[in-house]
Amino acid sequence: MKRTLRASKRALQIEGESSFMVLGNAKMLESQGRKIIHLEIGEPDFVTPANIREAAIRALMEGETHYTPTPGMLELRKAIAEKTMQDFGVEVRFEDVSVTLGSKEAVFAALAAIVEEGDEVLYPNPGYPAYESGIRFFGGKPVPVRLREEEEFRMIPDRVNELVSNKTKAIIINSPENPTGSVLSKDDVKGIVEIAKDIGAYVISDEIYRYIIYDGLKHYSPIQFDENLENTVVIDGFSKYYAMTGWRLGYIITPKHLTEAVQLVLNLITACPSSFVQIGGIEALKNGMDAVREMVRQYSIRREVVIEEVSKIEDVHMVRPKGAFYAFINVSKITQKAGIDSFKLASILLEKYGVAVLHGTAMGSFGEGYIRISYANSVENIREGLRIIDKAFKELKKG
Ligand SMILES: Cc1ncc(COP(=O)(O)O)c(C=O)c1O
Repeated sequence: MKRTLRASKRALQIEGESSFMVLGNAKMLESQGRKIIHLEIGEPDFVTPANIREAAIRALMEGETHYTPTPGMLELRKAIAEKTMQDFGVEVRFEDVSVTLGSKEAVFAALAAIVEEGDEVLYPNPGYPAYESGIRFFGGKPVPVRLREEEEFRMIPDRVNELVSNKTKAIIINSPENPTGSVLSKDDVKGIVEIAKDIGAYVISDEIYRYIIYDGLKHYSPIQFDENLENTVVIDGFSKYYAMTGWRLGYIITPKHLTEAVQLVLNLITACPSSFVQIGGIEALKNGMDAVREMVRQYSIRREVVIEEVSKIEDVHMVRPKGAFYAFINVSKITQKAGIDSFKLASILLEKYGVAVLHGTAMGSFGEGYIRISYANSVENIREGLRIIDKAFKELKKG
């Protein structure tokens, strides 16, 4: 009998990242002549610092156009290991550093190397959607850890403890967090590492916003509490704090026993990261921090603008974000009064009012009642966008 051809269930169950879909819809409206204020996509509005761009251009002109080893150029891996030492005082072997195409590929490779059929993996919800999709893709069971507004959206060890079982294989943490801007304390991170060590599980720590942190807070990595690097997988990338989203450059640091598996996966899917892009990465690591500090200063000013403007909008509130460049705004009173959900609310804001935001459920089921805005945008756009949202909410409540 002839079979009907169709795409695999494994592929079709992937939930794509909605921010890219919202961006697509917004661009469509723009092509029809509409003015849209973009607060939906999580990427810096800054162009990559000039010295990093120049390093990559030089590399291209000098003929750096060939494959590199799968885990990346030696010099880049060594620079990453060195930076890890400088920032955390922890020695990692450069052999256990693998360079990836963005941290998104690092998330995929980590899950591919760790998750067996039926393994449970805890992850933050609301949180970055690739975690849940990735866990499911490899046959694991996603176990959401609900981040609660009254706990400043932190993933606190007590909540993790309630959810671990003898099937728990890994706990994903993300601090500073997308979409809530929450930052884990030293005790949070330490507590989660202790739980993982007790039950024999991994902590997969996505640290791609780690320099974008405010109020004098400090970033902690589980690597600091896992001396021999047995349970911790660190994922980091150049996209956010160096403003290099389009370059697609990230990395993963693994316990020695996982390194080969991760590199086999990377070899299968991409062979190696782009050569000249890696040269840009080396320049970023060696001479990029002044630009990072300046961009974080700008984000911090914009964060104050968001807090000020949101405080003027009736019936909404938000937890002061402590890191990253997102505001996760509680709009549940508006959705209730208007009799709609956050997806519908975001659609109305885009289609009727020309402001693109992300519905909270794009970041997981526990995001209902919220919208996410990115303030990696100009102060003028942020103010104008939030003032339009204020007007929209007043009209929506009237019905
Ligand atoms: C928490 C988190 N992890 C990973 C990524 C992926 O970033 P990239 O693949 O550009 O490094 C993002 C992007 O938005 C993110 O927010």
